[in-house]
Amino acid sequence: MNAVIEAIVSRRSIRKFSQEKVSNETVELLLTAAMNAPSACNQQAWYFIVVTDRAKLEKLSTRHDGVNFVKGAPAAIIICGEPDAAVLDYYWVDDCSAATQNLLLAAHSLGLGATWTGINRQDPEAIEFFRQILTIPRQYIPFSMIPIGYPAEQRSFSNRYDEKKMNWD
Ligand SMILES: Cc1cc2nc3c(=O)[nH]c(=O)nc-3n(C[C@H](O)[C@H](O)[C@H](O)COP(=O)(O)O)c2cc1C
Repeated sequence: MNAVIEAIVSRRSIRKFSQEKVSNETVELLLTAAMNAPSACNQQAWYFIVVTDRAKLEKLSTRHDGVNFVKGAPAAIIICGEPDAAVLDYYWVDDCSAATQNLLLAAHSLGLGATWTGINRQDPEAIEFFRQILTIPRQYIPFSMIPIGYPAEQRSFSNRYDEKKMNWD
């Protein structure tokens, strides 16, 4: 295994964070990784909102029980998609997924913890919830929310490679 594959295998969702701030330079590195993800026809149908305001993080964490831990993170990055600008409009979700995973792996490689939390883009109420808290330009739809920070928990991992999930054809 090389360093990239080791990082992919050892990454786990981190939901407990120390209060150490994440510097702007580090956030820019995370966004660099995200914005270098593959996208359909290189359309890059994404937009990123970096949230460090405590009151906003608290509000975001009330969306449902599964994101309650967001209030304990020093920062969160909301990845949004732009369906109308997309060359292939059905692929904006794929673009945002690739950007989200790149960001998670970059965070892990820098010693940060992070978790992909989903946003139901088919639920107008969910989208409105994020619009009321954050400044999201109208053309963008919130896609994922990624709390980030220095880990205050250690997650064990095992390699999930499973030969029953594949075949040679
Ligand atoms: C689309 C999507 C939505 C997710 N939503 C949440 C969430 O709302 N809350 C949460 O704690 N984790 C969420 N997760 C993280 C998963 O629970 C986690 O990735 C999975 O349990 C595997 O664990 P690992 O990331 O540690 O490998 C989500 C992951 C994905 C891909």
